[in-house]
Amino acid sequence: MAKKSVAKAAAKAASRKSVAAKVAKKAPSAKPGKAIAKKALAKKAVAAPVSAKRLKQRPAISHYREEDFAAGLRAYAKYRDLGVAEASGGVAQAHVIRLIAPCDPNEVSKLHYHDAEFQLVYVLNGWVKTYMDGVGEQTMRQGSCWTQPPRIKHLIRDYSDNCELLEVILPAQFKTVEVKA
Ligand SMILES: [Fe+2]
Repeated sequence: MAKKSVAKAAAKAASRKSVAAKVAKKAPSAKPGKAIAKKALAKKAVAAPVSAKRLKQRPAISHYREEDFAAGLRAYAKYRDLGVAEASGGVAQAHVIRLIAPCDPNEVSKLHYHDAEFQLVYVLNGWVKTYMDGVGEQTMRQGSCWTQPPRIKHLIRDYSDNCELLEVILPAQFKTVEVKA
């Protein structure tokens, strides 16, 4: 019995091998040029620098200090700058935004866009109700993360009393434009 099952297993393995060999033989003939080009593109996307004139950067290391929260772009928020703008030579900026409670929609809910290349927001604490063109209203809770494509119109509708956000924007300097709803 044992011998038989060993033989059976060997036969099965051999048949698997021959199928694999057939597939391997077939694969190169299935448009090899395309496969190689695809591989090269994927490699390029990972390895190629964003710009040939890459600015010199240094690591930005920031530890929590309550006194670092300062006034900034919005009167209803305090900002803890994470030192990224300076360390990256202006490539990006990053800060923790602490929204000041209670939310006053008359002051806060103004439709606007940022003339930036990239913007990412992550909810560290609490929740924030946002509106984005093409997306509509969303309640972003602790752990929620989203990006805002360049010049997308958006606003904040409401936020919790303990709302803290992490925001990363490229480049460090950008224009914010208020628009009529
Ligand atoms: Fe905004």
